[in-house]
Amino acid sequence: NYYAVIMAGGIGSRFWPVSTTNLPKQFHDMLGTGQTLLQKTFSRIAKAIPAENIYILTNERYLDLTLEQLPDITKDRVVLEPAMRNTAPCILVAALKIKKENPNALMLVAPSDHWIEEEEAFATDLQQCFDACQREDMLMTLGIEPTFPNTGYGYIEAEPTSGSPIKKVAQFREKPDYETAKQFIAEGNFLWNAGIFIWSVQSITTSFEKNMPVMHALFSEGNPVYNTDREAMFISENYEKASNISIDYGIMEKASNVFVKKASFDWNDLGTWGALHDKMTNDSAENASVRAIPYLTDATGNMIYSDTKKLIVIDGINDYIIVDKENVLLLFPKKKEQDIKQLLNEVGSKF
Ligand code: GDD
Ligand code: MG
Repeated sequence: NYYAVIMAGGIGSRFWPVSTTNLPKQFHDMLGTGQTLLQKTFSRIAKAIPAENIYILTNERYLDLTLEQLPDITKDRVVLEPAMRNTAPCILVAALKIKKENPNALMLVAPSDHWIEEEEAFATDLQQCFDACQREDMLMTLGIEPTFPNTGYGYIEAEPTSGSPIKKVAQFREKPDYETAKQFIAEGNFLWNAGIFIWSVQSITTSFEKNMPVMHALFSEGNPVYNTDREAMFISENYEKASNISIDYGIMEKASNVFVKKASFDWNDLGTWGALHDKMTNDSAENASVRAIPYLTDATGNMIYSDTKKLIVIDGINDYIIVDKENVLLLFPKKKEQDIKQLLNEVGSKF
């Protein structure tokens, strides 16, 4: 009864120039391990869930890339979106599709672009959450101990209940402003939302029906077509009518049956070059490099990335993002990493 859906339709614009609309970061070997982030995610999940029960949700333009990178996946396991509508619509479609195949299914929803190396701890947490969702009508998420007031994350206030590792959520707040995030962290009983969800297809579809009835109606009126040859046509005709909203705003903030388990593995969402730097730092001067062969003098705190093995000589540069790609060279201060998103719109859309 165990299923997984991997969300692989985002753009990762803060990782420009490596991540582009044609080739977003999940399809890159961002860590220099020989595997792309999507391949790493798939192999981690395939250790806990049978490969034939793993679905990939992505934009239709990434179909070929997905099949090429995941030879164990067949085309009927890839749910194709004709438009970018954030995570709520694709999760609902996947849940309805899986529910038709198996009404008792339990489902993991996972992003395709996170850094998680402790695969056994991940599998153990997952099993505990599956067990809980099997017993009760719960929407579960994994929580991470916060370290600073990051405004790009969801915040989860856990009820201070007994010793149980699974706690009821008193409040879920997606992307609060800086002051609120600071206050949450000071209060001490908040966790970051890792963006990894576990629930039964029954619980999540019921929650959509209650909290997002318009979207639920849009995708369930044609319910009989899922898993038939009319499915693709049904999705392409209706998908664009769905509102553009994430599962966090659409469901997690509203539902009253949200529960959290603190993740027992080290996690990083690899959202920016700085996050990659944190995970990849590989010399005593806090420089990190992927694929590049750095020759450094008087250089600290740099994130150096190259798409090929290349000697990069750096002298007198500190705290920079240095990205060498075939047709783009980026030299950008690390403290301004959030601005890379705008850069993509201004100069990067053709690169
Ligand atoms: N299939 C599909 N379609 N996938 C999508 C789409 C879409 O339209 N949009 C985003 N995704 C994928 C992304 O590729 C990523 O793997 C995942 O869904 C989450 O989307 P993000 O855009 O990265 O979300 P976020 O980082 O702003 O926020 C989420 O993750 C945080 C932790 O990393 C939220 O769940 C936050 O609450 C959470 O803290
Ligand atoms: Mg993200």
